[in-house]
Amino acid sequence: MKVILAPNQAAGDQAAFQVFKQVVDHGAHVLGLATGSTPEGLYRLLRESPLDFSQMISVNLDEYVGIDPDNPQSYHYFMKQHLFNAKPFAHSYLPDGLAADPDAEVKRYDQVVVDNPVDLQLLGIGRDGHIGFNEPGSPFDGGTHRVKLTDSTIEANARFFSSKDEVPREAYTMGIGTILKSREILLMAYGDKKADAIQKMVEGPLTTAVAASALQKADNVVVIVDPAAAAKLRPTSISERL
Ligand code: GLP
Repeated sequence: MKVILAPNQAAGDQAAFQVFKQVVDHGAHVLGLATGSTPEGLYRLLRESPLDFSQMISVNLDEYVGIDPDNPQSYHYFMKQHLFNAKPFAHSYLPDGLAADPDAEVKRYDQVVVDNPVDLQLLGIGRDGHIGFNEPGSPFDGGTHRVKLTDSTIEANARFFSSKDEVPREAYTMGIGTILKSREILLMAYGDKKADAIQKMVEGPLTTAVAASALQKADNVVVIVDPAAAAKLRPTSISERL
């Protein structure tokens, strides 16, 4: 795992943008995308860049169950607002939160990822170390599945809703096994609320109790952190300082 310490979020976003640019310039066809507040600055840089995604495919990590794609809280809506409206892809895939048959939806989305192997997967991280919506306890070899969100995640995501009660209790997510198949992985984390999760992901034991620790198994992972998110790391865990 290559850990890059940026002096601040803006510098981290620039470094993440360069990773994306390089991968796209080298002919990547499929980008794996993530939602959350962490990648917002990166998406702004991508929107404002000359990069062209019109011949590429995007595949998103996850979506809430029971939410309409046009609902402003849906991950579909987030992606349109932050990237797709400005920079359309040839095709953008997300799980369908309104799918009538959840088992069929899980199978469909798993096939989407098989048919569109991800060249670069972008990840954020939850305070409990989740990636996508793979909550603690998720198996490292898991595929797409429907998941019950933990209290900690519902609490953390409540800021996007008018009340905690409105946060969906379930989601569809790519599994950790799916994520690990990506050719390259870029994980971004900013702020002190992520410091514990980052420490456990980078230095802690490989354990399903911390979903992101699975990334220790991959040799193609770049992590970009700001000083607050890196605060609990040993200096020797940092590969590069910007
Ligand atoms: C949600 C998403 C994750 C994201 C996490 C952190 O749970 N499913 O993909 O990484 O939130 O979000 P934020 O970047 O807003 O801290």
